[in-house]
Amino acid sequence: MKHGFQSGVGFWRLASMQSVPLVDYYSRRAAEYERIYEKPERQEALAELGVRLRGWLVDQRVLELACGTGYWTAIIADSAQSVMAIDASDAVLRIARAKAITPDKVEFALGDAWNPPKVEGGFTACLAAFFVSHIEKHRLPAFLAAIHTALASGARVVLADNRFVPGNSTPISRTDAAGNSYQLRHLDDGRTFEVLKNFPKPAELSALVQPYADSISMEESEYFWCLNYKLRDSAIPQSNK
Ligand SMILES: C[S@@+](CC[C@H](N)C(=O)[O-])C[C@H]1O[C@@H](n2cnc3c(N)ncnc32)[C@H](O)[C@@H]1O
Repeated sequence: MKHGFQSGVGFWRLASMQSVPLVDYYSRRAAEYERIYEKPERQEALAELGVRLRGWLVDQRVLELACGTGYWTAIIADSAQSVMAIDASDAVLRIARAKAITPDKVEFALGDAWNPPKVEGGFTACLAAFFVSHIEKHRLPAFLAAIHTALASGARVVLADNRFVPGNSTPISRTDAAGNSYQLRHLDDGRTFEVLKNFPKPAELSALVQPYADSISMEESEYFWCLNYKLRDSAIPQSNK
């Protein structure tokens, strides 16, 4: 699959104003991606986030959306019942697969987070780490509706992402009329990409999931936020009940 789908995540402009999809940017960044997880000042918060994600996903049949290089897959795999981890980039999936993370439980597949794979009975949990920040604000309800189609009654949805930390996060280069913010990101090959990256407030996130959620928990560390909710029955398709 090579951009054969419309992700709804928008297109990122090169500094030269050439447009490329988000998935192209992450494909080009694949080999250097995990450097983001090596920042010394973030280690404690990352470890805490890992503990939370593992805890929420214990014994679940997890659908992991936009799994990237499998950094979080490796953290949740031991305690989950199974993980179907999808990403739209072959380049990141190659790196993820090479880690050989508990292959009896984990399957990596090329796929679109906006059209997630369906299994009989639905997945009992969904994780999207560091992905919703790349979605235009007005498309977030449609994204949630799309992922709910793959989930079982009472499934847990876990979303995690960055908080904006002045002096540590990549600066915001501009904000558009709809309130979406952008960053200029530089890769080792010298290219610069303009990437949509939003930093929603906890109240915005809670309001976003409220229509679908039976119980919502929102937590923040200095660098990250994570939100989890139990999917309300009325939010899932009849076929999954
Ligand atoms: C910020 S990375 C997050 C990767 C991983 N979840 C993590 O936290 O390390 C965003 C990922 O979204 C993937 N992506 C972009 N559009 C996608 C889509 N429509 N469906 C699935 N994955 C997509 C990119 O290829 C990239 O791996």
